[in-house]
Amino acid sequence: MIKIQNVTKIYPNGVRALSNISLNVEAGDFLFLVGPSGAGKSTFLKLLFREDMPTEGKIFIDGKDIVSMADSRIPFLRRNMGIVLQDFQLLKRRTVAENVGFGLRVLGTSEDKINVRVQEVLELVGLSHKRRMFPDELSGGEQQRVCIARAIVNNPLILITDEPTGNLDPMISLEIMQLFMEINGKGTTIIMATHNHYLVNKLRKRVVALVEGRIVKDEANGTYAYE
Ligand SMILES: Nc1ncnc2c1ncn2[C@@H]1O[C@H](COP(=O)(O)OP(=O)(O)OP(=O)(O)O)[C@@H](O)[C@H]1O
Ligand SMILES: [Mg+2]
Repeated sequence: MIKIQNVTKIYPNGVRALSNISLNVEAGDFLFLVGPSGAGKSTFLKLLFREDMPTEGKIFIDGKDIVSMADSRIPFLRRNMGIVLQDFQLLKRRTVAENVGFGLRVLGTSEDKINVRVQEVLELVGLSHKRRMFPDELSGGEQQRVCIARAIVNNPLILITDEPTGNLDPMISLEIMQLFMEINGKGTTIIMATHNHYLVNKLRKRVVALVEGRIVKDEANGTYAYE
């Protein structure tokens, strides 16, 4: 599903964020990406959805070389991805339901189908009662759950998430993780960067640890520890 070959990322200011990373992720994998602050986790994720380009190396997703891919193809690449980042990037003038349904609307899905699906995913994240509210009427954790709903509304092949439980209380974090496991069980490949020891140690999924831009551990049924 995802093949990363000898990827190095050096930012324009000279910071070497990733050094010679190689990694394969099979369809249906659930992978936790861990490591200290500044290790390169967010940089790594950004390369996967072409938010940024590697300085060296290749990345293939579903057989397609996404590094040489034309910019005009990027929307098609992202159509198969759910992306949950920490800066929520919700549309401020749209309601919760409109935010969640936005991607489906862009794809030309019928309003009836959109309504049904939006209601379904809002129930999954526990926010159907807030569907008519605007993002700035919600708490940080609620906004985060709207982003999660938006990311999964399209049944993506790959879910890429950067610290999705960062603003959530422990109970809701666990519920969101259960939701991710369900989605994963239906075939979505999940890559999740996190500092949450508890969740990583509890769920025992594949764990890849980055330290100073290098993979220091890649373990099936792994734990959070990286030193
Ligand atoms: N746009 C940028 N320009 C220059 N350097 C950057 C940029 N973004 C990140 N960096 C640097 O690249 C390195 C890796 O950063 P990255 O954000 O990938 O770390 P991280 O593992 O996600 O950390 P955290 O756990 O704090 O989110 C850090 O040294 C960071 O300062
Ligand atoms: Mg980060």
